Amino acid sequence: MSAKIADLPELKTQNNHNGKIENDGAWVRVADYDRMKGWGDPARAEARSRWCCEQLEEGQILYFEGIPYDFPQADREFLLQQRQGDSRLHKNISYRPRQDKLRGSVTDKPEDTERLHRIMRHFSEEVVNLLTRVLAPYAEYWALDYASFRPEEENGRDLSLHKRNDLLHVDAFPTRPTRGGRILRCFTNINPTRSRNWLTTDRFTTLAQKFAKDAGLEEIAQSGDANGSFLNTLKRAVGLKVVNRSAYDKFMLRFHDYLKENREFQANTPKIYIDFPPMATWMCYTDLVPHAVLSGQFALEQTFIVPVQAMVMPEKSPVRVLEKLAGRPLVRELAN
Ligand code: SIN
Ligand code: FE
Repeated sequence: MSAKIADLPELKTQNNHNGKIENDGAWVRVADYDRMKGWGDPARAEARSRWCCEQLEEGQILYFEGIPYDFPQADREFLLQQRQGDSRLHKNISYRPRQDKLRGSVTDKPEDTERLHRIMRHFSEEVVNLLTRVLAPYAEYWALDYASFRPEEENGRDLSLHKRNDLLHVDAFPTRPTRGGRILRCFTNINPTRSRNWLTTDRFTTLAQKFAKDAGLEEIAQSGDANGSFLNTLKRAVGLKVVNRSAYDKFMLRFHDYLKENREFQANTPKIYIDFPPMATWMCYTDLVPHAVLSGQFALEQTFIVPVQAMVMPEKSPVRVLEKLAGRPLVRELAN
């Protein structure tokens, strides 16, 4: 049975193995982009990359068969040999491109950490180059966020409810408020033999219409921006670190937890299962595309924060959708 995603244009379903995997109906394949040559028709590069931005902003997942950037096989083989230490301490290995810092490596051999660092740096640079060409309209606006390597088997991980990746959710970062900025992520499955298995459902817009009120949008909208709050002013005065959460950030964090806590939603929302095969690369706005990862091991991911001003269709952004529902602004301009 093919489930229908309420707020997406109908896509052709060509491939329905097991009666439940709907890959070709659940992603939009980009087949005219080549790692070495770029867009198949250079004269249409601008139009193609604008089209890609539109697809993402509609809530589609862009899918590339194979790795559309340089990722040496020796590097992939090295990563496949890595395991994490205490997975309760680190959900994955992360790389912070702006500081060129690696976190979560637990190997006791310094040369392995050094190599892991070099591989993550190269991965991050390559994905930036890829998106600069594929999503050109965003390139001068985005803020480069963290990259990660996910070496754990996702099936059966022992994580607390709010950290579980196998429950449908939209992303929100507790320590890095975006103040309306969009969370764009590019993933590659480097597992040579097994797919990475996702689940998705109706997009944020539909979920917000159904659940935002119950999740507390009104109260959060009224509570306003934490930036000028008494507590934050006090913290700043004594030199403590302040997280500048706008009402939008507070709501998105709440909504992430609300969806994971909502058993009725998890059980009964229409589900689309997607298998990303070995070496697939895909990207989507994970604040707009609800997702859960059910199984899979060895994926890499690079995150970008894209300001709403860079969107080709800003009105489709979660912040605009929520502001319409709440009837008031959810992000206050920060004074410089
Ligand atoms: C997530 O962002 O929830 C995890 C997705 C993945 O690792 O495939
Ligand atoms: Fe997520």
